[in-house]
Amino acid sequence: IKKIAVLTSGGDAPGMNAAIRAVVLAAHHYALPTIGFFSGYNGLIEGSSSALTPASVNGIIHRGGTILKSARCPAMLTEQGLESAATTLKKEQIDALIVIGGDGSFNGLLALNKYWSGAVIGIPGTIDNDIDGTDFTIGFSTAVNTGIEAIDKIRDTAEAFERIFIVEVMGRRSGHITFNVGIASAAEQILSFENFSQTDEQDKLSHLAKEIKQAQQNRHASYIIVIAENLWPGGATQLAMQLKQTANIDCTACILGYIQRGGSPVAKDRILATKMGVAAVQALIAGKSNVMIGERNNQLLTVPLDVAVQHKEKVSESLVSAQENILALTAQ
Ligand code: F6P
Repeated sequence: IKKIAVLTSGGDAPGMNAAIRAVVLAAHHYALPTIGFFSGYNGLIEGSSSALTPASVNGIIHRGGTILKSARCPAMLTEQGLESAATTLKKEQIDALIVIGGDGSFNGLLALNKYWSGAVIGIPGTIDNDIDGTDFTIGFSTAVNTGIEAIDKIRDTAEAFERIFIVEVMGRRSGHITFNVGIASAAEQILSFENFSQTDEQDKLSHLAKEIKQAQQNRHASYIIVIAENLWPGGATQLAMQLKQTANIDCTACILGYIQRGGSPVAKDRILATKMGVAAVQALIAGKSNVMIGERNNQLLTVPLDVAVQHKEKVSESLVSAQENILALTAQ
């Protein structure tokens, strides 16, 4: 390969800049010119790009967001969009494309394969940690830390007012952020896909109300429920309203939202991104394609892209069971 391209796609994640930097510096080390496409796959379709040199990635390792900008790109689901993307890659004489993003971005790469014969490599960059074949995705650790910091602050008000809070965290349809944030902030309840889908809505509501009332009787100074987005119809706000209507329990809903996506990446994300960025370039040089760079037990590896997007890996049972065991005690 003689020339490579890189882009960031889907929800931005802290550490994406560190990954771009590592790709560019590693490519420079192997004397491979690199260009960056802007705004995810839109840049590929519209031909919006810029050459990336070691100077262009100087001073970005600590910055959140992505210097290449990002977007979700529905056009990559159309034949016309894919053809335009392939045309740009041919015109720019790109031999290999590295995409930093989540499952939607990897599906874009898989689709592009049918229209372009260059090599493609994915780097998992998403706060959700919902990619198979890797223990962690870039951005997850920072998002969890941000969630914990926020809940530590909410806890102060919760205690001062003896108030119940329902805090909604991101994660799309997976509970990695919910469970990790919930456990590390000593949440009294964690409501996520893994532990809250057995019974119907009314049963769940009355069960939850019973547990809260029990805690109130035991004079809990504060009570924090961490809930996964997309779990309860209407989210935290609707759940708070239903608890009031059905059990006369006053709760304050708080949606953490996009603060979890931004901010300076923690050490773990900067290091993971750096290792993965270098490994992506080395994988290309070794002739690999159609794979994602992952890390298992501290060992870098490659995972077929179509395996990475399967969503078979769930939150570890040890986390779910840790919470179940602790919950029995916190209710007392
Ligand atoms: O995938 C990252 C993520 O922040 C999810 O946690 C969330 O569900 C989604 O993106 C929000 O997407 P958008 O930025 O398109 O609103």
